[in-house]
Amino acid sequence: MSTSSGPASPIGVFDSGIGGISVLRALHAELPLERFVYVADAGHAPYGERDDAYLLARAHAVTRYLIERHTVKALVVACNTATAAAIRELRQTYPDLPIVGIEPALKPAAAVSKTGLIGVMATRGTLNSDKFGNLLQSLRGAATFVLQPCDGLADAIEHNDAIKIEALCIQYTQAMGAFGLKLGEMDTLVLGCTHYPFIADQLSAKVGTDVVYLEGGVPVARQTRRLLTERQALAPEQTRPGAQTERLAFFSTGDATALAMASLRWMGRNVAANAIDIPNLQAARRLAC
Ligand code: DGL
Repeated sequence: MSTSSGPASPIGVFDSGIGGISVLRALHAELPLERFVYVADAGHAPYGERDDAYLLARAHAVTRYLIERHTVKALVVACNTATAAAIRELRQTYPDLPIVGIEPALKPAAAVSKTGLIGVMATRGTLNSDKFGNLLQSLRGAATFVLQPCDGLADAIEHNDAIKIEALCIQYTQAMGAFGLKLGEMDTLVLGCTHYPFIADQLSAKVGTDVVYLEGGVPVARQTRRLLTERQALAPEQTRPGAQTERLAFFSTGDATALAMASLRWMGRNVAANAIDIPNLQAARRLAC
């Protein structure tokens, strides 16, 4: 890790695409003095149906880019799939860098559900991971979880493909079973992929407005604040943004225009996004870290 990062340095955030913006908006609300550098690894997306080796390679490459090019003081892996596959290795590789990941909000769901039956929508990669298996195991007896791998859904959201989103929402919510407040129905739905909060309206139309939706952005933002506070690494007060100061920078390894449009739509920020290339690191270089 570069030794020159400090409290005024930005926080790096990445996802396979636009999904992490659902986390970035919580981070920005919780930490308004901070600067953020967001990377959408859209040139290598979707992540959800890839194997661990692929995800590890991408997580290492993007993290190294954020450290070397932007001297980030912390990293937020705003992707459930990448967190499940790579967060342990990232923490081992960069022990001095505060790293926050995201996982499907099963614990909060078990705490709020009255029927004890909870739907979980996530990528196949997240649901098949050891990390998710351990989380599920830790909640044995607390609730019953209906797990739905949602192949293709993040990709449809990434490409704003309304017809495909609608078809997949119908397919997956029907496959899960009955939603509602009665016994034997799912009263809580965990959105276990950071792309899914952007289709909450479409999902509501299928499962009903009584169902509680849980996503992970706010807890991630609070944890990021905690880690920075512990390390006395919060942005100094004198960097309080003026009306003209832009605290967000967006980069995409794929379609930068799509990322800029997503930031405008979901964060209300009219900020240009830059196209970049982030090749995988050489295996030898990774081992030398
Ligand atoms: N947004 C990512 C997540 O939270 C995955 C999307 C993808 O499949 O690329 O898991």
